[in-house]
Amino acid sequence: MKKTFLIYSSILILLVFTSYFSQNENVFSKSDTVSSVPTDCDSSVVYFRQDVLPLLQSNCAKSGCHNEETRKHGVVLNSYENLMATVEMEREDDDFDDDRKDDRGRDDDRKGRGNGADRYKNKLEKMMRLNKMPPSPEKKLSQEQRNIILKWIDQGMQNNSCEVSATDCNTVNMNFTKDIKPIIDENCVGCHGGAKPKKGYDFSNPEKFREVALTGLVYLAVSHSEGATPMPFEGDKLSDCDISKIKSWIDAGAELK
Ligand code: HEC
Repeated sequence: MKKTFLIYSSILILLVFTSYFSQNENVFSKSDTVSSVPTDCDSSVVYFRQDVLPLLQSNCAKSGCHNEETRKHGVVLNSYENLMATVEMEREDDDFDDDRKDDRGRDDDRKGRGNGADRYKNKLEKMMRLNKMPPSPEKKLSQEQRNIILKWIDQGMQNNSCEVSATDCNTVNMNFTKDIKPIIDENCVGCHGGAKPKKGYDFSNPEKFREVALTGLVYLAVSHSEGATPMPFEGDKLSDCDISKIKSWIDAGAELK
């Protein structure tokens, strides 16, 4: 009798302990997942703030499309909150689909809907997979850009951010193709490219970018200095690291190699 009592009470104590510790573990892991800014960015993680938002701001949140004023079909794509509100919109309405004239993928789409709603996790994934946005004549996102967004969806659509610290920011010997072009493609070409580039600046053409950079306007615009309209237009400022890279490249003669 005494023995059984001992066994039962030790099991009980054990249970109390394990539940206490697992609760604590939860508390710890919860605070870990809050979008803190780690010192080292994980290259396998797609960060909303640095990798996804600039693509949305430059390709989707434009006037006439999904910016605050136009909000085509009620969709605004200029922030995490607005993106999530859109993604969570009723499935039945197909209003995220703007590209009525572009029939590519249309049948696919109908079949998908006939099959039940679960073919895509959400509207954003659907738009990326069907490659319908931005509607023609605007330039579509590249495969690489769509993959970035799809990977972020797969990773759970976190509102995460990781900025390269000033000490880790290399601005020496900037190479246009390797260091500068990716910044421009991600942050600028959505507006300064395609059929009707803003202000007539087609930055998908490196020569044009160089020409405007050498006038001094690019640096004034991206550093939000007086004398130019702040860029990206109505979007978040580039990171300090990216601005320094652009400056260093221009100061060294804006060579296109
Ligand atoms: C959401 C659309 C959009 C994005 C993204 C964007 N621009 Fe612009 N850009 C515009 C518009 C619109 C104008 C014309 C604004 C004006 O004249 O006031 C403009 C004008 C400019 C000008 C001329 C500014 C002046 O005062 O004359 C420069 C330089 C420029 N953009 C560079 C950039 C660079 C570099 C990027 C990327 C870092 C960028 N833009 C991203 C829409 C955009």
